[in-house]
Amino acid sequence: MAKEPVRILVTGAAGQIGYALVPMIARGVVLGADQPVILHMLDIAPAAEALNGVKMELVDAAFPLLKGVIATTDVVEACTGVNIAIMVGGFPRKEGMERKDVMSKNVSIYKSQASALEKHAAANCKVVVVANPANTNALILKEFAPSIPEKNITCLTRLDHNRALGQISERLNVQVCDVKNVIIWGNHSSTQYPDVSHATVKTPSGEKPVPALVADDAWLKGEFISTVQQRGAAIIKARKLSSALSAASSACDHIRDWVLGTPEGTWVSMGVYSDGSYNVPAGLIYSFPVTCRNGEWKIVQGLSIDEFSRKKLDLTAEELTEEKALAYSCLS
Ligand code: NAD
Ligand code: LMR
Repeated sequence: MAKEPVRILVTGAAGQIGYALVPMIARGVVLGADQPVILHMLDIAPAAEALNGVKMELVDAAFPLLKGVIATTDVVEACTGVNIAIMVGGFPRKEGMERKDVMSKNVSIYKSQASALEKHAAANCKVVVVANPANTNALILKEFAPSIPEKNITCLTRLDHNRALGQISERLNVQVCDVKNVIIWGNHSSTQYPDVSHATVKTPSGEKPVPALVADDAWLKGEFISTVQQRGAAIIKARKLSSALSAASSACDHIRDWVLGTPEGTWVSMGVYSDGSYNVPAGLIYSFPVTCRNGEWKIVQGLSIDEFSRKKLDLTAEELTEEKALAYSCLS
């Protein structure tokens, strides 16, 4: 029997990530080739005509799984009945700007969209915030949508996770699909800590630890970390626009693994509400290693954290604590 369609909201759908993301969703990349979807696309009035153009293209592409498209500037219409919300709408960082610069523009958007989701989304709607500052926007969304379970509100750090996989694969000249269990700790910002202490590579003679294969501690603790931390800025410098296809693809990975589960023995990174694990202050949206099963994520417990890592985990937590205070000051 055919499955009931799942309703997926994409905010900022007329923007560059939205343009890359909606065809991936319509093609079944997120929920599988047997799962029909109805796309809800939201943007603001100045982008209404462009949004309608995206809708026309979705119709023209004749995606078999796409059972309907709502393209609207009305936040209530956009949020009504959605099962999954991918929050991309907002003001992007331009060359030379730090994420803090875009804070005031974006947190007020997330406060108002929180209440629309709370009132009109389907029960148990899963939310991923992509727009920057992603962790803090997600936190504001959580605080102003108190009836949505905190486990359902996440932010995207999977792009950083995938970037770390990509850097290790290039350095070791191995297939990216053979590298696993990197971790992104903390903020989706330049203080994030890309950690390969527990990462492995599949080889013909079994799984080998990444630190032993790389055998260059200085590179792992220096250039590797800064390359991943600064990759967003490097893309902006090269394209004069922030990353879009990799962001869209990583958002699909985030939702797919959350809903359909992570492979056995593999974890991924997600920005989730901290419960105090690894002595990260509770009450922040912080990126942790997680495994997913039956539509629920769980923080991987018991990983050893050495002194070098401890400092990095604390530094990015401090930045998130400051961002939280700044976000509240922007809203008052
Ligand atoms: P973009 O400017 O191309 O698109 C943003 C869209 O959001 C625009 O169409 C704009 O009209 C719309 N928008 C603005 N305010 C809105 C509102 N209140 N409601 C609905 N839509 C609204 O930007 P982009 O390149 O698509 O990036 C989107 C966001 O994602 C930015 O904040 C960017 O910094 C962020 N980003 C995050 C990651 C990540 O890994 N977390 C990666 C890349 C980009
Ligand atoms: C990215 O990581 O590519 C985006 O968050 C863009 C940015 O502002 O760095």
